[in-house]
Formats: sequence, C-alpha cells, structure tokens
Amino acid sequence: MNNLRQVMQERWNTKGYHYDHTGGHGTKSPAEKERWTKILAQLGSGPLAVLDVGTGTGFVALLLAEMDHFVTGIDWSTTMLEQARAKACEAGLEIAIIEAETETLPFTAACFDVVVARHVLWTLTEPHRILAEWYRVLKPYGRVLADFSPHRSGTVGHHYPLEIEEKLPLNRDLEPLAVAAFFEDAGFANVQAETLPLLPDSKAVTYLISGFKRGGCGHGSA
Ligand SMILES: C[S@@+](CC[C@H](N)C(=O)[O-])C[C@H]1O[C@@H](n2cnc3c(N)ncnc32)[C@H](O)[C@@H]1O
Repeated sequence: MNNLRQVMQERWNTKGYHYDHTGGHGTKSPAEKERWTKILAQLGSGPLAVLDVGTGTGFVALLLAEMDHFVTGIDWSTTMLEQARAKACEAGLEIAIIEAETETLPFTAACFDVVVARHVLWTLTEPHRILAEWYRVLKPYGRVLADFSPHRSGTVGHHYPLEIEEKLPLNRDLEPLAVAAFFEDAGFANVQAETLPLLPDSKAVTYLISGFKRGGCGHGSA
C-alpha cells in the first residue's frame, strides 16, 4: 500500500467508532434506508452473490442480507468492519466480512453477480484501476451499482486533509455523464446515471451509476 492510501486508511480506522453517529452518513436515516431498499430491490429476488465494496459499518450489506442475498463486504478499515460484524451478529444475518483493499480484491475473476458501492466513488485514488478490478470480479452480465454526489468546491476537506481530497479524481463537481465515462472506460456496458429523488430536508443531489459486465464474444476480460 502506498503512503497516500496508508494515511487514508488510518483516517477510517479512527472514524470507525463514530461513523454511524454522524448524521451525514445516513446509516440511521429511515429515508436513506428506504432509498437503498428500493435501489437494491431492482436486483430481483436472487439469491445473488453480491460484493459490497467499502462496506464500512455494513449499511448496504445488511440490507442485502435481509433480502436473502449471499453477501460479502470488504473494507480496509478494521474499526469500520468491527461495527459491521457486530451489527450483522445482532441482526442474526450471515455476511462474509473481509478486510481488504479494493485496489486488489482477494477474489478470483467472475465470482460475483453484483458489485455495490455506496458513498465510495468519491474516495477512490485511482478510479480507472479500481473499476477494472470490480469488472474483473463480476460474472459476465453481472451488474455494478454505485452512488455519486458531486462535491462542490468548499465542501472538500471533510474526511481527509485538503491536500489528499484534492488528489481524488471523483471528489469533484462532476457531471454524472463524466462519472459514467469512467465505468465505460473500465469496460462496462449499458452504463446509466439516474438522478435519485431528493431525500426529505436535503438539497444534496445524488446519482446512481449502473452498468453491466459484457458477456463472451471477446468483449472485455473475464
Ligand atoms: C463513506 S464510507 C462508506 C461506507 C459504507 N459503504 C456506507 O454506505 O455507509 C467509505 C468506506 O470506504 C472504505 N474505503 C475507502 N477506500 C478504500 C479502499 N481503497 N479499499 C477498501 N476500503 C476503502 C472506508 O474505509 C470506508 O469504510
């Protein structure tokens, strides 16, 4: 792991214990829960093998497990994962929770039906490389779902020191089509950017990026 990522990882290890108690993260918000329940319901009844990348305290992983999917959550923060494990245990839900970097996922190619990432795109240091890694672990025709909120100038410096946030390519006021282009560059097909309905009492615009891994016939890499 390079120095930049080590500093970033350490920030999440420090934040882990407070994350669920910070309103902006929405993990205790009924409206946010409803929003993601609707998004994940699009996947159908399954059960599907789903990877929740940057699972954090397990917000998405828990919802997926409640829907009877086979869920694996990865994150590089020990303390975030401690919370996720405790919540899964309390809810009686079986989730494979693994400490790993999303840059080098510890999985063979083509083993997941779906890759989900909530509140993660903005923090990626090398989106091209990382999206290619998500593409690798998806089965042909598998789906990726990730949200994106444009970070306006003046709002950076919230999670990491400013000099780090300025190095993150998706931590910007980007048009959703520009974000979608990163997914297309990684090989995803049928990439769409949907504007999600605003949450009550919030003006924060959020997009949901969705795409599919190409199937056989020489497209992309398996
Ligand atoms: C804003 S939190 C989102 C957590 C969770 N997905 C949610 O919706 O509440 C971002 C998470 O991504 C993790 N993360 C960031 N970069 C990562 C990387 N390169 N590899 C693995 N995890 C990473 C952080 O540790 C943190 O838990």
